[in-house]
Amino acid sequence: MQKELKIHDKVFELYLSDKEIASQISRLSQKVKNDYDSDNLVFLIVLNGAFMFASDFLKNYESACSISFVKISSYQGMASSGKVKFESEISVDLTQKDVIILEDIVDTGLSIAALSEKLIEYHPKSINVCSLLFKPNSFQGNHKPKYIGFSIPDKFVVGYGMDYLQKGRNLKDLYQLKE
Ligand code: IMP
Ligand code: MG
Repeated sequence: MQKELKIHDKVFELYLSDKEIASQISRLSQKVKNDYDSDNLVFLIVLNGAFMFASDFLKNYESACSISFVKISSYQGMASSGKVKFESEISVDLTQKDVIILEDIVDTGLSIAALSEKLIEYHPKSINVCSLLFKPNSFQGNHKPKYIGFSIPDKFVVGYGMDYLQKGRNLKDLYQLKE
């Protein structure tokens, strides 16, 4: 793995290795399984960023569940635009389901707040968030995610599904902006 790399105009340095991420994810999925363990559960994967996290999380989650996807966008470059755009519909029946939103990172919290609000229209039994990363210092929401892999400083990250201007999603490790 590279210690440092350049994407577009920015230099990033290694922050969390794939091994550190993997062991935290197996703890996280075990915890969720212990809390629910019912086939009433629907994991809603937030595209694009959460695809890699969701894949590893769900391979570790050895119990019955349904899986669906929703595509939203809010980021422009390195800052949240403040507006959340829904780019797909929710195609699975969520009525009376326990919904767990799988996110790559919760930053301002605007995305999960907008998504949770939209999900209420589908009458689920419960809505909770499981996010690999959480930036407590930039969070502006009222409900922090129920499940968090790592709380991290307020610095831009790429890799493990997350991008900087559409690049870096395929990196298996997580990198942080070098300043
Ligand atoms: P929020 O609405 O500010 O919580 O941001 C939500 C979305 O923005 C996340 O799901 C990510 O897809 C993206 N995002 C937030 N912070 C970062 C970052 O540091 N790197 C890459 N993407 C990010
Ligand atoms: Mg995301």
